[in-house]
Amino acid sequence: MSTVTTPSSDTFRINRSDAPASVADREAALASPQFGVVFTDHMARVSWTHAAGWTDRRVERYGPLQLDPATAVLHYGQEIFEGLKAYRQPDGSVWSFRPEANAARFARSARRLALPELSAADFLGAITALVDVDRDWVPSGEETSLYLRPFMYASEPFLGVRASRQAEFLVIASPVGPYFAGGVKPVSIWVSREYHRAGAGGTGAAKCGGNYAASLLPQQEAYAKGFEQVCFLDDRTGTQLEELGGMNIVVVNADGSVVTPPVSGTILEGVTRSSILTLLAEAGHEVAERPVLLDDLRAGLADGSITEVFACGTAAVMTPIGRLASDDFDLVVGDGTAGPVTTRIRAQLTDIQYGRAADPHGWMHRLV
Ligand code: COI
Repeated sequence: MSTVTTPSSDTFRINRSDAPASVADREAALASPQFGVVFTDHMARVSWTHAAGWTDRRVERYGPLQLDPATAVLHYGQEIFEGLKAYRQPDGSVWSFRPEANAARFARSARRLALPELSAADFLGAITALVDVDRDWVPSGEETSLYLRPFMYASEPFLGVRASRQAEFLVIASPVGPYFAGGVKPVSIWVSREYHRAGAGGTGAAKCGGNYAASLLPQQEAYAKGFEQVCFLDDRTGTQLEELGGMNIVVVNADGSVVTPPVSGTILEGVTRSSILTLLAEAGHEVAERPVLLDDLRAGLADGSITEVFACGTAAVMTPIGRLASDDFDLVVGDGTAGPVTTRIRAQLTDIQYGRAADPHGWMHRLV
């Protein structure tokens, strides 16, 4: 593991909450946390104006934001976010996984949404300062972590359609367990033919709220049919897999080779995705980033030449997909349980994240 201290975390002013959760309430929240329901006592914050740039780095009591009804984000959705986790290690220290990659993607998302770029030093400084203050909120149970949600929104009260001249950056934190309610079990996926998540030249590669807003109706329809997630196809031909509502998708063939849609501007460049592809390649799997045709996936699942499919992302880690369906097909993946490649690589990744194994790539970054 590499230890990196972030000088700018010192520059965050700490205003401790005068009403933190009681020890009993906090421990109850940490005992079996659900995803994104309970939040820690504090949040980190930096403000930006066109005239002054980024100022007022602070950690303050977690609480509601007061917004003018004309605030730009409420009207035009000028907003971006990130997701990363802080993991309790066996020696009690707290580390995160490739946070520089999230900082870099946050800057790319900011550019696409015409928001100001935040430096990696401020991004890392904010998460470090927040986790330092709320370190007792990092759970230690199996598959648990402190999910960090950095986000930025256009805060100028102005109704003209142009880039905001004010923005707020915040980080909030939530102790979490597995993203899917059933724990680490195979999930079922509905392939949407009617809706697309992104188009060429759009915001598909940016992590902005609008992409997720657009996924909610298809996601809701998938739930109503009894499925846990929706999978989107490309908007031009409707034949190629893109990604799920909030995670990337990877296909494992019977010969051990692996294929996943390329980052071509319409899908999110997942940090977990790229890490898993590295681990797969190092384990001797042939890894291809190329378009995956739905027809090939259907044929491969039907004749057994495709043995595993999994979803991956910070929240989902690696979640096996057990069933894939749409209006005209309904297929079980393998025998419907987690396959050996998914299980093995998932264990390898989480062993690195939880400090149970060496970190040869220097992916882990000490926070406190
Ligand atoms: C993540 O994996 O961190 C995500 O952002 C996906 C979802 C929870 C929005």
